Amino acid sequence: MSTHIGAKEGQIAPTVLLPGDPLRAKYFAETMLKDAICFSEVRGMLGYTGLYGDRRVSIMGSGMGIPSLSIYVNELVSEYHAKTLIRIGTCGAIQPYLKVGDIILAMASSTDSHINKLRFAGMDYASIASFRLLLRAYEEARLRAVNVHVGGVFSSDTFYEDDPDWWKKWAAYGVLAVEMETCGLYTLAAKFGVDALSILTVSDSIVTGEKATAQQRERDFPVMAEIALEISP
Ligand code: HPA
Repeated sequence: MSTHIGAKEGQIAPTVLLPGDPLRAKYFAETMLKDAICFSEVRGMLGYTGLYGDRRVSIMGSGMGIPSLSIYVNELVSEYHAKTLIRIGTCGAIQPYLKVGDIILAMASSTDSHINKLRFAGMDYASIASFRLLLRAYEEARLRAVNVHVGGVFSSDTFYEDDPDWWKKWAAYGVLAVEMETCGLYTLAAKFGVDALSILTVSDSIVTGEKATAQQRERDFPVMAEIALEISP
């Protein structure tokens, strides 16, 4: 076991899907994988490994925000030899044409986090997706009855901002949506030389105030997991 993951050596597959919510990890593992076993319950951050067709895949919660996700990604890669990390999460749209249920493939991530300023002595680092995974995910998404968009996202350290207009500058510069983890994922993937991609479902629109209903969550959220499983090497 590592500091925050209770798995034994070999229990975690080389490809790990990372929803923020551990109960979504449990749901996707139980409904989309065959013979899923739970490899960790440490801090309630559930992780499972099972079969998707003949491929072994793991699904584990990342928690919310860059610090939580970074702990798990560090340990998954350096202690359990993960090679492909795919975040499957939700985001808030900041472009008016994006609708609840749309899929966003995050090509790059901007952030208000200082994590990379600390890492790179005050300079900016452009955190980008694995092109190989991005291309595969785009092809898979286009086969489905879903709107797919490729572009930049904003990984924020705050969910509840003081300024209600804070997102408008980012929208004016073409950013599609806001979430809280992708910048950390892409930066660590680059550091360790592994592949990473964030596949996001729009759960709410910051522009229109539209929010996903329980029915939309049930119908739309599994699509991102299906795409992630299909592109798993
Ligand atoms: N902010 C940050 N993360 C999110 C949001 C949001 O509005 N919606 C879904 N994830």
